[in-house]
Amino acid sequence: MELKRDGYPRSNGYDADWVLAGDMGPHPLWLLEDLAQDLELRPGMRVLDLGSGKGTTSAFLAKEYGVQVWAADLWIDPTEATSHIAAQGADGVVTVKAEAHTLPFAREFFDAIVCIDAYEYFGTADNYLSYITGFLKLGGQFGVATPALRKEVRDLGSIPDHIKKVVGWEALAWHTADWWRFQWEITELVDVTAARLQESGWEDWLMWSRAVSEYAGTRDGSLDMLEADQGEYLTFAMLAARKR
Ligand SMILES: C[S@@+](CC[C@H](N)C(=O)[O-])C[C@H]1O[C@@H](n2cnc3c(N)ncnc32)[C@H](O)[C@@H]1O
Repeated sequence: MELKRDGYPRSNGYDADWVLAGDMGPHPLWLLEDLAQDLELRPGMRVLDLGSGKGTTSAFLAKEYGVQVWAADLWIDPTEATSHIAAQGADGVVTVKAEAHTLPFAREFFDAIVCIDAYEYFGTADNYLSYITGFLKLGGQFGVATPALRKEVRDLGSIPDHIKKVVGWEALAWHTADWWRFQWEITELVDVTAARLQESGWEDWLMWSRAVSEYAGTRDGSLDMLEADQGEYLTFAMLAARKR
């Protein structure tokens, strides 16, 4: 299958069938390639890919930026992730089964932590930023791409029906970039270097869901929600910070 998009030259170099075989949510390489513009990833850095799923982004990090990658995930068995990553010839990625609150790493071990479409499952608790940045060196970078609404549910008064029908109350975790900026800055644990809503977020997500539907031969569960939305609310928040 062909799945390329202007603005993602690195991702366009990856076989679409391989990316689609790793499907767990919106195109992870588009999200990471966009987020990486707000990060400085240099060869040899130690990077934690938190909530790495089948490891699509872990392979990309190792190949595109030459970093050493630890891929930590809860739902996907490390053997499955290792095999998915190996298909790209990405060497040296360490896959670990781990829960985001009990990570098996040394404090201040990583130069960077990235989290693509996973932070919404565990990162909204007020005390989590302190826990996760404990694994970063001083000056280490933290990058998150997470589903977002263009307005806070609290301000809307309710979860829009077309979103509620598909994801229910979980959309409460889909905060605006401004919400995240405040939440992180107030701690004084990090300097926030980027907190933006992805302009192409809805369109990218829609294109991905259509591709997943074609690949799987069944209509992707998110398509009704995305088509009804028309970009009014749904996108991604791109967040980057450095540990103080
Ligand atoms: C939507 S998937 C995205 C996976 C991958 N980052 C990607 O974009 O393809 C969310 C991932 O978050 C991980 N996750 C959810 N809760 C977690 C937790 N408490 N600890 C560690 N990982 C968690 C799941 O295992 C899952 O692989």
